Amino acid sequence: MARKDPLRTKLCESLGIEYPIVAFTHCKDVAAAVINAGGFAVLGQTQSTPDEIEANIKWLRERIGDKPYGIDLVFPASVPAAGSTEQLLAGIPAEQQAYADDIAKRYDIPEPKKRPELYDLGWMEKETPRKQLEVVLEERVPVIASGLGNPDFFVPAAHERGMQVWGLVGKPRQAKRELEAGVDVIIAQGTDAAGHTGSIGTFSIVPQVKAIAGDAPVIAAGGITTGRHLAGAIALGASGVWTGTLWLPCRESDTDMLMKERLIEATAEDTSWSNCVSGFTMRTLKCKWHEEWSKPDAPKAAPAPYQLLLFAKNKQSAFDWGIKEFMTEASGQGVGFIDKMKPARQIVSDMVDEAYEVFDEMYGEDEDE
Ligand SMILES: Cc1cc2nc3c(=O)[nH]c(=O)nc-3n(C[C@H](O)[C@H](O)[C@H](O)COP(=O)(O)O)c2cc1C
Repeated sequence: MARKDPLRTKLCESLGIEYPIVAFTHCKDVAAAVINAGGFAVLGQTQSTPDEIEANIKWLRERIGDKPYGIDLVFPASVPAAGSTEQLLAGIPAEQQAYADDIAKRYDIPEPKKRPELYDLGWMEKETPRKQLEVVLEERVPVIASGLGNPDFFVPAAHERGMQVWGLVGKPRQAKRELEAGVDVIIAQGTDAAGHTGSIGTFSIVPQVKAIAGDAPVIAAGGITTGRHLAGAIALGASGVWTGTLWLPCRESDTDMLMKERLIEATAEDTSWSNCVSGFTMRTLKCKWHEEWSKPDAPKAAPAPYQLLLFAKNKQSAFDWGIKEFMTEASGQGVGFIDKMKPARQIVSDMVDEAYEVFDEMYGEDEDE
């Protein structure tokens, strides 16, 4: 008897896509390329204004036709006390400010050429995500993903417009809460992932969420960069994979070329789960900044958002002046498997081919193949 195609999952069916590979990316070109290669992409728009989001949706639609796509926003539950970035900068604790200044002095790091991009903390305010959400609902974006915070308050509005709501979680109890609120798809993200993550590994969180998800598809996230990972995720009960790091060094990505080189050179041991970047635990690629903040005489990281503001300036200088040893980016442990700058289409097809090879390894090849 011919076996069912393990990559034709219910996620593929519910979206009408060919492969259960989801790219999370901030880069529109990457999103368009992955979607046109038969995968799915969710464009990170937390740093965009409502007008920019509207323009980006239009841009994407012009390139992908009527294929589905998603937009990712965050809805943090606790936000810092209101204040302009300037007021927040003035409130950075003196000890940490002095330490950051000392790093810049010791390594001869010039002032940034531009205002640091990460000074735009709109996503950390209560109002900004709500205004961004209005555009996404208005545009009837096929999938709205919530990267942080409970999306329960907009599930009915999204469903009325025929949109799916996806929730990214790092703990089974968050998954339970979101499923109860009617979220359509849960992205179970392990600590192996790039960015702000919990402490549970991908191998543990995915089956735990699968066990409570009922009919809702579960997407595995965290450290996924190869076809073997994709096959493994399916074996864990996932209906697809959600990937971030994988796309940073791809051909279409707008990531800085020196940063792409750092990612391609990195191994799984080169990531760090630390609060020295944002004040919250976050997985990023290790650089001198991490080394300096983990020294025994270093102060502990300032609370969010102050540590992020300190880091923002260092990051901007590193990128503006091409100081590779201080360049970092959110990066998952799967970075160790990325060894070339490939076009997104090739990444999708290589991943699919490798996953089928793994299934053949596991079950033997179909006789009629
Ligand atoms: C550079 C970068 C920026 C990210 N920014 C966001 C974000 O703004 N919102 C969000 O929900 N997730 C963000 N993430 C996390 C991804 O959505 C995804 O969960 C993660 O990259 C998966 O792990 P992986 O990188 O090991 O594939 C980011 C990831 C990367 C690599």
